[in-house]
Amino acid sequence: MHNNKIRRCLAGLTVLALFQVSQVQAAAACAPAAVQKGSQLFAQECSVCHAVQKGVTGMMGVNLNGVAGRTSGTFPGFSYSQAMKDKAVDWKAESLQAFITQPQAFVPGTYMPYTGMAAADDSAAVACFLTQQ
Ligand code: HEC
Repeated sequence: MHNNKIRRCLAGLTVLALFQVSQVQAAAACAPAAVQKGSQLFAQECSVCHAVQKGVTGMMGVNLNGVAGRTSGTFPGFSYSQAMKDKAVDWKAESLQAFITQPQAFVPGTYMPYTGMAAADDSAAVACFLTQQ
């Protein structure tokens, strides 16, 4: 009798643990709500200088289509700062978020005239959005 209760309790804990793991994975894989929020923030804060549509060039900022998976400073034909080329960071959610949070701290000497995005869930949402472009 007593053992059964313990077994039921353990089963319950396992279900709870699995539930929490799947929540974390959903966040890492970019929940649709975060992508949506990131898209709005990008439109307000970044789209004056950057496009995410493939093929759009001639803006002050470099085209960000497919930026996740690219090495910093390598989009052909864009004239980057030496600092961005020397940084040679692999753009992915974490590095993008760090750059968006404080561009001048992450890449000292960058040409990007943007002071940074203070709220962590905002910068995470923009990074999330960018990984889907
Ligand atoms: C006023 C114009 C401007 C704004 C606003 C701006 N950027 Fe930039 N961005 C630039 C410029 C210029 C560069 C090139 C920097 C360099 O070479 O050091 C750049 C570079 C970048 C890079 C590096 C890309 C690469 O190919 O290595 C990323 C990522 C980026 N910006 C993301 C953003 C995001 C996200 C926002 C909004 C939160 C934003 N930028 C806002 C002008 C801007």
